[in-house]
Amino acid sequence: MTHPKSFGSDNHAGIHPVVLRAIADANPGDAVAYGADAWTEQATARLREIFGADEAFLVLNGSGANVLGLSLLLRRHEAVICAESAHINTDECGAPEQLVGTKLLTLPSPDGKITPELIAEKLSGRGDDHRSQPGVVALTQSTELGTCYTLAELRKIADFCHASDLRLYLDGARLANAAASLDCSLAELAECADALSFGGTKNGAMGAEALIVMRPSLSADAPYLRKQMLQLTSKLRFVAAQFTALLQDDLWRANAAHANTMARLLAEGAGAVPGVELVHPVQANAVFARLPKRHITALQQDWTFHVWDESSNVVRWMTSFDTTGADVSAFLTAIRETASA
Ligand SMILES: Cc1ncc(COP(=O)(O)O)c(C=O)c1O
Repeated sequence: MTHPKSFGSDNHAGIHPVVLRAIADANPGDAVAYGADAWTEQATARLREIFGADEAFLVLNGSGANVLGLSLLLRRHEAVICAESAHINTDECGAPEQLVGTKLLTLPSPDGKITPELIAEKLSGRGDDHRSQPGVVALTQSTELGTCYTLAELRKIADFCHASDLRLYLDGARLANAAASLDCSLAELAECADALSFGGTKNGAMGAEALIVMRPSLSADAPYLRKQMLQLTSKLRFVAAQFTALLQDDLWRANAAHANTMARLLAEGAGAVPGVELVHPVQANAVFARLPKRHITALQQDWTFHVWDESSNVVRWMTSFDTTGADVSAFLTAIRETASA
């Protein structure tokens, strides 16, 4: 029988009970649609305050936040520099190319992170009208490989971008996990960026993400582009209520810190099993491990997780706000028992 707790993705988790209650509490009665309601005003004011931002726009999903954010930062002929492993490159069905009309200039990055030195390699065609002109650097925090940029690394990249006339975008689908891991504020993570996304869905919400705009001159077009990109939902109060619940008493941080702790626990246990090799530092809520193919197959009989790279037998195990210590123990027992499969 498949174990009820999935290690496949933080998207497999349900809604945090406090967030679910907030949706129910927002339900009685009517409210004006499309964000002209008290819930949206409260949530966006709080987001602006917490991030030190110019504006916050509530949207429905992370890909939508990314496309909207990039569209604010790019001129029509400009390209985006990002890691090969970036979600915008690998998992959005070409949405940035299709909807923004940009080109992604990708960089190899074994740990999911890019550096000023790597970014500089993509600037050689500047001024040549035959070449895509880099306009934006897009980072993911925490990265798709479960690592985090330190604040010093972010500052270094931001300095390089400012000196090189590049704008900086952060895909923060798991920004909460990075803030918990680095023990810093959301504002500290955001100050390097011109715009960023802030994910609620992977942190206990449902269909709740935000685009945070840090630079005042960029906000004016955002409401129109959000609508054109189909990210303005009519009953926005239910998205807003979820953010207010996550931001209340730093529930977002508790959820993320818990998920990170569960991932560390899993990594410590799994790393001690013969034949299991951890392939990236575990700095957020994802564990990447290499194990023999037959071991993967045996484990998959009862457990849900992704094989990240078939050719190198690397799997991804993810934890979420509601992964329990007992779930991790049961999974570790299974990893040990199937090791000699
Ligand atoms: C790093 C990152 N960015 C963006 C997204 C996009 O989220 P959505 O599936 O809500 O569009 C994901 C989803 O897994 C993600 O992992």
